[in-house]
Amino acid sequence: MFTATAIDASTKPELYAGLAGQARALLHGERNMIANAANFAALVWHALPSLNWCGFYLFDGTELVVGPFQGRPACVRIPIGRGVCGTAAASRRTQVVRDVNAFDDHIACDSASRSEIVVPLFVGESLFGVWDVDSPELARFDEEDRVGMESLCAVFLESLAPAPQPSP
Ligand code: SME
Repeated sequence: MFTATAIDASTKPELYAGLAGQARALLHGERNMIANAANFAALVWHALPSLNWCGFYLFDGTELVVGPFQGRPACVRIPIGRGVCGTAAASRRTQVVRDVNAFDDHIACDSASRSEIVVPLFVGESLFGVWDVDSPELARFDEEDRVGMESLCAVFLESLAPAPQPSP
């Protein structure tokens, strides 16, 4: 059984470093994408304060489709280039939205959301999906969250990589 211990952190970088270590331990030895995405979302949900949604939108070859998440039921399909999620996918850049009401094309799945961060996920050059986190607090996410979330997502993506083959 995996037991997530409270992370002893007084700064965001320390919190994300601790969380990345826990994510690595949690996903270690498993390469099933759904299992790892579900456990990753649950880990982050319980570790980070002031969230009302966190989870994956997965690219199905045409658009983004909701994947494993924590929080209230969400919008199912998001076209590439639409909303914060589709913008992250199209621009290939993490979107840090301090005020979702000031983001013209924000797609409101939960009226409680006030701020949002979305990290685009690529495997090589191929779009895999996005990692989306919402908060009921205005300006909940900043540059330290961007760096922290991107390194957390790197741990998730590494967990899907094929195991190295033993040399002959
Ligand atoms: N707000 C997102 C939609 C997904 S929900 O936040 C879960 C967007 O604008 O793309």
